[in-house]
Amino acid sequence: MRALDLIIKKRNGQSFSTEEINFMISEFNSGRMPDYQMSALLMAVYFQGLNAKETTALTAALANSGEVIDFSSLGKIVTDKHSSGGVGDKTTLVLAPLVAAAGVSVAKISGRGLGFTGGTIDKLESIPGFSAELSVERFMELVQENDLAIMAQTERLTPADRKLYALRDATGTVENISLIAASIMSKKIAAGADTILLDVKTGKGAFMQSREEAFHLAETMFRIGKDMGRRIVSVVTDMNQPLGYAVGNALEVKEAVETLKGQGPADVEKLCIILGGYLLGLAGKVRNPEAGQEELLRLLRNGAALQKFKEMVSLQGGNVECLEDYSLLPQANYTETVTSTRAGFVQEIDAGKVGRSAALLGAGRAFKGDNIDPSVGIVLNHKVGETVCEGDVLAYLHSNDKDKFKAACRELSNCFTLVDEKTEEFPPLVYGVVPPFPS
Ligand code: URA
Repeated sequence: MRALDLIIKKRNGQSFSTEEINFMISEFNSGRMPDYQMSALLMAVYFQGLNAKETTALTAALANSGEVIDFSSLGKIVTDKHSSGGVGDKTTLVLAPLVAAAGVSVAKISGRGLGFTGGTIDKLESIPGFSAELSVERFMELVQENDLAIMAQTERLTPADRKLYALRDATGTVENISLIAASIMSKKIAAGADTILLDVKTGKGAFMQSREEAFHLAETMFRIGKDMGRRIVSVVTDMNQPLGYAVGNALEVKEAVETLKGQGPADVEKLCIILGGYLLGLAGKVRNPEAGQEELLRLLRNGAALQKFKEMVSLQGGNVECLEDYSLLPQANYTETVTSTRAGFVQEIDAGKVGRSAALLGAGRAFKGDNIDPSVGIVLNHKVGETVCEGDVLAYLHSNDKDKFKAACRELSNCFTLVDEKTEEFPPLVYGVVPPFPS
């Protein structure tokens, strides 16, 4: 087998066998296949596509390029949750302890995000002392002991995906649904959970801007999971306005903890309960997702989910006192406001612009290895559908730098669309589920 023949084969629109895909990934991962050949092959895939069998084979090859975690010795169902990313998306911080409090183990491996704000790991690391740098052995011990652990991606998991993603990023070949689905799912498969919930976000603040593309990705990932013997559900959810009010790492931790105390934003609580209901259903804990939602609401109201989160923070070295005394979380030096220049109804809050504004304050990273500032970010004062008066505060900006504040302020003042007539139709929180549950 030769890399050149595989490039020509795909260029001419033919399909790869599983052996050919295994060969290609193993040659590339070992360095025997040079970047220029893999770049040509990626471009051929970008234009000719991969069929379902090829996409699953690619997922397996990427997953098997490094360590694959095996939870079977724990003798219990282990679940994982993945979000395609959004602005103010603190769902994992609420959903993971909620589901674990219901007695379903959650083992989540997360990357440090590129983009507007940090990823789940960055958010958790804004809690002083919290460590997500765990060995796989410790990760498994925590899942066994406390039914909940969240750990940072290690170099040993899916090395071929990391290498391939960097090349895709540099060759204009990221935006292909099969490649995206294989990349995400390879990390989920290597992370070892047998039950997976995917939250595919769509809208102005999402990776998948169009609903059609989001469903295509949700379906492709669902199919891969099924083919690989996982219990899986993909939910397509809205990311046109930010989720909740807070956008920024420590600010989001505070909002997630408030949600676990039953005092969080309605949309954050509702989404976590809906997603959690699917996870409990998938794990066979309840007869249907609605029964799961009831159980999760009970665990939110009686404090069990908050207690589970505190146990996780403590077991991973974090200062639990921060979760009661928020002044112990990182704090920005200045808080400034953006006010409304007119009265009206909030028709839209562009999540993409809010995210860019938070990034300008230093809440996100543009390049791998950039430092993020855990204390900065934005707290919205209104959500879509509300009424504002002239001069009302639309948002609070938490900043450590006056120049960054000015740039962020300019971006943020364009986020809100105010209209005279109240619109009754707003995007729903959830657009659909793949497959329609139960499968
Ligand atoms: N996230 C991933 O992990 N991989 C992709 O290809 C795109 C988004």
